[in-house]
Amino acid sequence: MNDFNERAKDWDSDPAKVERARIVAEAIRPAIPSRPGLSALEYGCGTGLLSFALQPNFASITLADTSQGMLDVLSAKIKAAGVDNMHPLHLDLSTAPAPDSRYSVIYSLMTLHHIPDTDTVLRQFFALLETPGWLCIADLEKEDGTFHGQHITDVHRGFERADLQARLEAAGFRDVHFSSVYAVKKLVNGIETAFPLFLVTAQKG
Ligand SMILES: C[S@@+](CC[C@H](N)C(=O)[O-])C[C@H]1O[C@@H](n2cnc3c(N)ncnc32)[C@H](O)[C@@H]1O
Repeated sequence: MNDFNERAKDWDSDPAKVERARIVAEAIRPAIPSRPGLSALEYGCGTGLLSFALQPNFASITLADTSQGMLDVLSAKIKAAGVDNMHPLHLDLSTAPAPDSRYSVIYSLMTLHHIPDTDTVLRQFFALLETPGWLCIADLEKEDGTFHGQHITDVHRGFERADLQARLEAAGFRDVHFSSVYAVKKLVNGIETAFPLFLVTAQKG
């Protein structure tokens, strides 16, 4: 079991996580419109690494997560940075109805594989987007379970691109495009192993 509450206070001390967010932000930026007034939802924001990198792109960012520990670290970072357009939110779209708010862009990094019911969350993303709206999800390519270890069974072992594309289209999205965005490096049995991440972008309307 991944205890994100426990891991929250040390999350940003891993330079690889900081770099991962920076690189994914660079890949997201050209995939979204660059105009004033855009609003965003980051889903599974953790400590907000990705949204801090994208903060100048948006008039307002709602940062949602289910871990109060992550949200507490995030709130402290927002206060320390003195930014006024980032808003933490405790939210689980796999069990709760979508809020009334609507967003121009929804993005997410390394969170979808932690949510058992992918289809429900994709449908919630669609409902939460304005028309037109943009979705950007970075997550693990299909792997054999080595990433979390065989003892962790409540996660997806990454995603097959074709399967995720079909799920996105079934949720209503169009213009689904995948690219390779990053590789997480981990020691597996003493051997450095790379786990590639895709970025998928899709549009509503
Ligand atoms: C691997 S961490 C990634 C955090 C951050 N996106 C990053 O890349 O640094 C996954 C995050 O998803 C959150 N999470 C897990 N299940 C969730 C759910 N059902 N809804 C929203 N967030 C969830 C966890 O609390 C955790 O912060």
